[in-house]
Amino acid sequence: HAAEAHRTDLMTITRYVLNEQSKHPESRGDFTILLSHIVLGCKFVCSAVSKGEEQKKLDVLSNEVFIKALVSSGRTCILVSEEDEVATFVEPSKRGRYAVVFDPLDGSSNIDCGVSIGTIFGIYMVKDSQEPTLDEVLQPGKNMLAAGYCMYGSSCTFVLSTGTGVNGFTLDPSLGEFILTHPDIKIPKKGKIYSVNEGNAKNWDGPTAKYVEKCKFPKDGSSPKSLRYIGSMVADVHRTLLYGGIFLYPADKKSPNGKLRVLYEVFPMSFLMEQAGGQAFTGKQRALDLVPTNIHERSPIFLGSYDDVEEVKALYDAED
Ligand code: AHG
Ligand code: MN
Ligand code: MN
Ligand code: MN
Repeated sequence: HAAEAHRTDLMTITRYVLNEQSKHPESRGDFTILLSHIVLGCKFVCSAVSKGEEQKKLDVLSNEVFIKALVSSGRTCILVSEEDEVATFVEPSKRGRYAVVFDPLDGSSNIDCGVSIGTIFGIYMVKDSQEPTLDEVLQPGKNMLAAGYCMYGSSCTFVLSTGTGVNGFTLDPSLGEFILTHPDIKIPKKGKIYSVNEGNAKNWDGPTAKYVEKCKFPKDGSSPKSLRYIGSMVADVHRTLLYGGIFLYPADKKSPNGKLRVLYEVFPMSFLMEQAGGQAFTGKQRALDLVPTNIHERSPIFLGSYDDVEEVKALYDAED
């Protein structure tokens, strides 16, 4: 059992990424360096969260830490953060081949009560690092090279995909290292949990309303699903990944594009879901096929176990 073997043969996240890179002879170690700077940002936030920093300070602080860590890595040229209205173009002397899109602190309404929050990120490789343009990040999510999140919960968990499956690492605070604890995560094919803000139900569209009704009053003799909703996307998606089921932030009459942001919320989580054997759907198409036209664009999202998302797709199909 891999987790057991690594109790003495520690598979740190750096070792894992170096192993992955050795399969690509053309790689120069840039990705490993970039990732270690993201990991540093996550360790900082993890430590700040456990000290009980206030919401406002923690939001701004985390963003600053990530921006500075990413710029100083020398491996990035464009950064898109949920906290910044405009993208950061890295100064020429510090430019590298990667664009990073991120939500430094997701679930911010949960900070002050100590409920799990997280950081979400996605990484693109740019065509021209000397003349980078915004188009480099206005690409469909399927073009991402890697995506992941770090959850600051009862422990600090880093979940990563570089396009060859999904792996989970847990921070060992005494070592200051993320150690592989959840190798090759696969989401159950079907789940028993649905996760949604039901307070928006009066404004939902037909298929969403029908789907949630089906979760509560199944007509095929199966048991109703349980409802779990934390209100931190990272925590809700993490549970969905491990236990199976579905997470949705649908469109409603007030927010026709839902709430969640395409680049740094919808895409990275959809990438992880597909890599774990699940699906991610917008109500119209495969989420990773979306082509964003602005960096803070929103989209409805249904993601999770393959069979559960399949049911949502069928309801939208039946509509048109
Ligand atoms: P953020 O804290 O980065 O602004 O994101 C909050 C998001 C996401 O984490 C969560 O899934 C969603 O907001 C919850 O929204 P509701 O409170 O509308 O349910
Ligand atoms: Mn967020
Ligand atoms: Mn945020
Ligand atoms: Mn926010």
